[in-house]
Amino acid sequence: MLELQGITVAYGESVVLKDLSLTVPEGRTLALLGANGAGKTTTLRAASGVLKPASGRLLVDGVDLSGAQPYRFAKAGICHVPEGRGVFPSLTVRENLVLQSYRTDSAVAVERAVSAFPRLGQKLAQTAGTMSGGEQQMLALARAYVQQPRVVLLDEVSMGLAPKVVDEIFAFLTRLAEEGVSLLLVEQYVSKALAISDYVAILSRGRLVFLGEPDELAGTDIFAQYLGSAEQVTA
Ligand SMILES: Nc1ncnc2c1ncn2[C@@H]1O[C@H](COP(=O)(O)OP(=O)(O)O)[C@@H](O)[C@H]1O
Ligand SMILES: [Mg+2]
Repeated sequence: MLELQGITVAYGESVVLKDLSLTVPEGRTLALLGANGAGKTTTLRAASGVLKPASGRLLVDGVDLSGAQPYRFAKAGICHVPEGRGVFPSLTVRENLVLQSYRTDSAVAVERAVSAFPRLGQKLAQTAGTMSGGEQQMLALARAYVQQPRVVLLDEVSMGLAPKVVDEIFAFLTRLAEEGVSLLLVEQYVSKALAISDYVAILSRGRLVFLGEPDELAGTDIFAQYLGSAEQVTA
């Protein structure tokens, strides 16, 4: 479905991803793990067309989108939920949802968002920037639902949120996956991420050092080797 083939990305002189190949199969969840600075965010930015790789190819359903503008990736069903809060803070919740619903009727979009996160239903007229961090992240994720994407790229969406909100967010990700959406999941809560993933890829300094199923990691020291501190690996 989404394929990165031998992607190399550099910021100026500094090569950050080296010959990276990854596939997110139809309807599957791939966790992308690695220490700070390993290149996870860069991978997602390349996969949504925001960053142009120096070499390599990006395929969506076998169609080569290398070098295409981000809107072509969006049209092909790739939805990127970036680091931080991907909302327009000065617009209301309803305005944020309608803006993001270019593929859907706006009433349907609002209804879908509220079905994903009922709490948003009571906040439709509220300015997004005045909501709590958790509510803003729910709004950013509701966008993924409203657009009916085929692949969602998630960059540490649970970062800095209260445990109850994190659970709500993981329940939503599970729902997306059950509905057949493919997920490329970058997450600091490694155990939670592995629990909902079909495959796991580990990046170290821009290179793929492990690709397999979560079960294959049991009893190995791969986490200690590549993920830095121990508290990162316990949910
Ligand atoms: N805009 C940028 N300009 C220069 N270097 C960057 C930029 N963004 C990230 N980097 C560097 O690229 C490497 C990978 O970063 P990133 O993809 O953000 O890693 P991760 O998300 O795994 O923490 C890091 O060494 C980081 O310092
Ligand atoms: Mg990052």
